[in-house]
Amino acid sequence: MEVKTSLLDNMIGVGDMVLLEPLSEDSFIENLRNRFDHNEIYTYIGSVVISMNPYRSLPIYTPDKVEEYRNRNFYELSPHIYALADEAYRSLRDQDKDQCILITGESGAGKTEASKLVMSYVAAVCGKGQEVNKVKEQLLQSNPVLEAFGNAKTVRNDNSSRFGKYMDIEFDFKGDPLGGVISNYLLEKSRVVKQPRGERNFHVFYQLLSGASDDTLKKLKLDRDFSKYNYLSLDSAAVNGLDDAANFRTVKNAMQIVGFMEDEVQSVLELVAAVLKLGNIEFKPESRCNGSDESRIKDKNDLKEMCELLGIEQSVLERAFSYRTVEAKLEKVSTTLNVSQAYYARDALAKNLYSRLFSWLVTRINESIKAQPKARHKVMGVLDIYGFEIFEENSFEQFIINYCNEKLQQIFIELTLREEQEEYIREGIEWTNIEYFNNAIICDLIENHQSGILAMLDEECLRPGTVTDETFLDKLNTICALHQHFESRLSKNSKYITDHSLPHNCFRIQHYAGKVLYRAEGFVDKNNDLLYRDLSQAMYKANHSLIKQLFPEGNPAKVNLKRPPTAGFQFKASVGTLMRNLQTKNPNYIRCIKPNDKKASHIFTDSLVCHQVRYLGLMENVRVRRAGYAFRQAYEPCLERYKMLCKRTWPHWRGPAREGVEVLMAGLQVSAEEFSYGRSKIFIRNPRSLFFLEERRRQCLQDLAALIQKIYRGWKCRTHFLLLKKSQIVVSAWYRRYAQQKKYQKIKSATTVVQSYTRGWQARKLLRELKYQKRCKEAVTTIAAFWHGTQARMELRRLKQEARNKHAVTVIWAYWQGTKVRRDYRKFFRANAGKKIYDFTIQRIMQKYFLGLKSTMPSMSPIDKSWPARPYRFLDGVHTELRTVFHHWRCKKYRSQFTEEKKAVYEEKLEASEIFKDKKALYPSSVSQPFRGDYLEISKNPKYQKLNSTMEEKVLMADVVNKINRANGKGTARIFLLTKNSLVLADQKTGQVKASVPLPDLTSVSVSTQSDGFFALKLKEGSASAIKGDFLLSSEHLIEIITKLHRTGATAADSEQLNINISDEFLVQFKHDKVCVKFIQGAPKNGNSASCKRKNNRLLEVSVPTTA
Ligand SMILES: Nc1ncnc2c1ncn2[C@@H]1O[C@H](COP(=O)(O)OP(=O)(O)OP(=O)(O)O)[C@@H](O)[C@H]1O
Ligand SMILES: [Mg+2]
Repeated sequence: MEVKTSLLDNMIGVGDMVLLEPLSEDSFIENLRNRFDHNEIYTYIGSVVISMNPYRSLPIYTPDKVEEYRNRNFYELSPHIYALADEAYRSLRDQDKDQCILITGESGAGKTEASKLVMSYVAAVCGKGQEVNKVKEQLLQSNPVLEAFGNAKTVRNDNSSRFGKYMDIEFDFKGDPLGGVISNYLLEKSRVVKQPRGERNFHVFYQLLSGASDDTLKKLKLDRDFSKYNYLSLDSAAVNGLDDAANFRTVKNAMQIVGFMEDEVQSVLELVAAVLKLGNIEFKPESRCNGSDESRIKDKNDLKEMCELLGIEQSVLERAFSYRTVEAKLEKVSTTLNVSQAYYARDALAKNLYSRLFSWLVTRINESIKAQPKARHKVMGVLDIYGFEIFEENSFEQFIINYCNEKLQQIFIELTLREEQEEYIREGIEWTNIEYFNNAIICDLIENHQSGILAMLDEECLRPGTVTDETFLDKLNTICALHQHFESRLSKNSKYITDHSLPHNCFRIQHYAGKVLYRAEGFVDKNNDLLYRDLSQAMYKANHSLIKQLFPEGNPAKVNLKRPPTAGFQFKASVGTLMRNLQTKNPNYIRCIKPNDKKASHIFTDSLVCHQVRYLGLMENVRVRRAGYAFRQAYEPCLERYKMLCKRTWPHWRGPAREGVEVLMAGLQVSAEEFSYGRSKIFIRNPRSLFFLEERRRQCLQDLAALIQKIYRGWKCRTHFLLLKKSQIVVSAWYRRYAQQKKYQKIKSATTVVQSYTRGWQARKLLRELKYQKRCKEAVTTIAAFWHGTQARMELRRLKQEARNKHAVTVIWAYWQGTKVRRDYRKFFRANAGKKIYDFTIQRIMQKYFLGLKSTMPSMSPIDKSWPARPYRFLDGVHTELRTVFHHWRCKKYRSQFTEEKKAVYEEKLEASEIFKDKKALYPSSVSQPFRGDYLEISKNPKYQKLNSTMEEKVLMADVVNKINRANGKGTARIFLLTKNSLVLADQKTGQVKASVPLPDLTSVSVSTQSDGFFALKLKEGSASAIKGDFLLSSEHLIEIITKLHRTGATAADSEQLNINISDEFLVQFKHDKVCVKFIQGAPKNGNSASCKRKNNRLLEVSVPTTA
């Protein structure tokens, strides 16, 4: 829960000066000192924040602090700059009100720091995101760049802003920053050429020389030694706590983040270097014969280097330093410059160069940080402008600065009063007029169009004739003499004639913050801000992109004879614009105060603070604020804070807050004049009343604290007691539960045992019952089965008996009938009637047998072996006989179908069967092969035509046989021809007859019993054919050849029956020797053919493969 706090809690001194009691300058300063001593550097005057410069870093800007002040009401926490920043940011974001933060205070009071704190707070609390962060970073990083070029060490501040800055930060509707616009006001450019004692030139010069690399310096033609440059004061070149080299890197980095290009940075540095070089150009006088003084450049080296840097022709610049051309309508007059004029020109150029560079930087940064032209932007302006300055010697710059502060004071008064007034009207409170000092009269003295000091200065500057600072002062003395805030020795106002604190060449203005004495010297020159045209034209001719841009008036094509507007005029215009801008916005004030002149922490110089409090008009501020009502607060927080002071409102008030506050105030009996009830706020006239409330609240809080303590203690004890009680109940409950559980479990288990016994007994009883019933059922079934069985058997016996009786009756009846018939017909039959009946019966049976056989006859195929079964045993012989007869008959029928050729073939086959069946193993395989006889087709084949022609008779058999050579048992193919009378062996290739044997010469043929095709033809001894001996041949058609030989031999007229010898060993007569041919069973071989081998002279062994 968020804890509601108030500014009034733990206050050191008074956090809001409006509540200061009694209010006096002393108490005011004492309050500031008290708070300052306790590190409370911020104090409020209503909504205005007074900031004391602590001159040391305090741990009050941490991210935690940011979070603490984020989204909190302004008066909720102790005064802080973050509270103001948060209030401004939230009004901008939530109420769509443009804001401006006006930071004022004298030099070194902490304005710039305050502006940076505001910006960093806003950056921390506003939206996040890549794009938003980039914008934030660019806005924040614009500060180091501008500080480097626009800040310098002064006697009052080591980092004094020498220009005024107003930055508009633009936000979108969500409160995310979109970009910004920076306006700069009057840079103190005189510092470029001359610095008061103990002060420095702008930081950038020192930073460049200390921080740039050797290489960069070489390029810029610079030397690291400060003493080499006239424009750099030496007495305070090094500043405590300032690291120029590191700052240079920071600035370069910041420039990069802001979006400067490499070449832009380089150009800027070149211009800075050029200013340093310019300061080193010195002149010497040279008298001319016409008596006039001329100036010459002493040492041209620096001029040369500067011209090289800026790309300017040396002679052009040299001439511009020596002559001045004045153009008037049609005339052009050139005059020479004396030494002091030359120095004046040089310094004017340096100042212009630098101040224009600075303005360019601002424009360039604006280009980078400019917001996209989207929808309407909300704007928060932060104004960090130079503070009111009172020096020993005050010049034109101080006059301008103080004028600006007058204007700011005026707007402050206007806006504060207006705000106050508006609040009263808004709240419906009667407005009482407030007396305050209005500085409008001083502003009028300075800026009045006719009689204002600036107007008169401009008039003097533009007036023809001799114009000096004295003539200007004279003019002031005449015109402003009677103005109550203008003082001059020579004025018509006799009051000051004897005032010795007022020198003759000075005038004094009574500013709202005090009297300031201005020395008139330099006013005219500075207001003119003259740069000779020759110089601007020389600059324009430069071959350097940036410098050309900075001096557009040097363009000869755009020669403008009109004088440029004066510095005073320009400043007045820009201040006017600024004021108009600020008036459109909701102001938030930060008034910075410097505690001491020594830039030291912990020192609080009363007089210095008092002076600032006076000129900042802080007392007036408090008075204005208190003129009506010192304190105001919305009803809700007021009721919340003080409701404990009245019983009716404590602890809760249910009605509207305003009524609650009225009841509260009535209850407290505070006098009615002390309060006014606005629409949403209560207004407390006197701080005393507020402190009265606070005191009562404090006491009440103590009482409440005691009450809370009491209640808390009581509550604690009661809670403890209740806890113990509760614990005891819990413990006993648990114990009882446990005991009951145990008891219950015991009873339960006993019950279970009893139950189980009972159930067992019941179950057994039931089982017995069921078993008995089952047995009864079985007994009944068995009895019924036996009874049915008995019944059935009795029935069967009865039926069998019945059938036997029936059969017996039939037989008896048949016998009786037979007997009866025989007895009746015996007289009609002869004695042989029985035989006739027998024959008739047999005849009938035979008839039936044959007729049956007719229909069950087997097929006509001779190989069909089926035959119907015999019907009667007594027909056994007849049945077999009939079968044989039928078979013979069917064979005959089959044979009768044969042609003569087929018959011959079958006869041959029959003969082969007679010869070989069951004698030679080769025979069965030949049965299915038909005997073709002429395998060579000898009569048709032209190859054997010649051989055929030699044959006298028809060839019965022509085949190729192998003639076995007795020497090695190998075969030679021979054509084997058989005719009716002879057999012929001829060469297979040539067809030449090798041997022709008449069949009568052939006595026998020998073959083996095995499946080979070997056969020996034995010839009749002493016959002509037998000279060469017997033939041992082999043929694939052995069975056919032998059969044919046997048949032919049998039919030949003069031949004997050919002997066929079937044996596994036989003799063959070869020429002279008889050789035994022996057939043995060999292993089965591929090809299944027999092989013949000669074993010795008398033995040829034929190995016949076994047939599987
Ligand atoms: N809140 C702060 N905390 C710590 N130091 C501070 C604070 N404010 C200012 N200072 C110190 O005071 C110095 C001067 O502050 P700053 O530059 O803001 O003054 P200024 O009002 O801008 O002066 P000028 O008008 O010369 O620019 C800072 O450099 C810093 O050292
Ligand atoms: Mg500053």
